[in-house]
Amino acid sequence: MLIVIENVLGKDEVARFRQSLSGAVWEDGARTAGTRSIAVKQNLQLNDMSPVAIELGNHVLRKLGGHALFISAALPERIHPPKFNLYQNGGHYGTHVDAALMRVTDANLTIRTDLSATIFLSEPEDYDGGELTIEGHYGAQDVKLPAGDMVLYPSTSLHRVAPVTRGQRIGCFFWIQSAVADERARTLLFDLDQSIQALSVGRAKDDPDIDRLTHVYHNLLRRWAAV
Ligand code: NI
Repeated sequence: MLIVIENVLGKDEVARFRQSLSGAVWEDGARTAGTRSIAVKQNLQLNDMSPVAIELGNHVLRKLGGHALFISAALPERIHPPKFNLYQNGGHYGTHVDAALMRVTDANLTIRTDLSATIFLSEPEDYDGGELTIEGHYGAQDVKLPAGDMVLYPSTSLHRVAPVTRGQRIGCFFWIQSAVADERARTLLFDLDQSIQALSVGRAKDDPDIDRLTHVYHNLLRRWAAV
């Protein structure tokens, strides 16, 4: 399932990010590509250890930590420190699948990539191309969102970024290890949780039917989660 979460960053935060990133030193993204994806990757990335990457990444993590829709959709157990990339002058990333396991050396842990996330930091009208195309069971979907919006998609999917033929496309991207690895189970939990939220509107806090549905939600989560 592909989920768009709007306004993860407000326009003022996006402006602050862009200001910080305008003075950053960008490196060749191929340096961090795997042996197969290096042939198809042509973009720039911030060094993960640079102060600006760490500061902005931590800001993103703080925002996500309090974001109910993100938590409902991803059921995050571990989040890879956010990374930043820039596409320009025909830069692109051909069809690839993200590595299943990502090592976070300084935290001495390995993350299983269940979900991939991109937060767009450039407005769509400021560049041509740069669509993130995600292949799924129902065909391929092109994603190009307003700055501050995020797309979440299964890391199992093949995906690519189309060449940016005008302007710059700056993005923040990272991976999530979910407490519920199985995508079908996670999607059922998300749908159930969102339905409970919608049904709860206008009902008493102790509505017995909502309590029963919530009980079902938590017992399914208990059954499917591995933490
Ligand atoms: Ni990727």
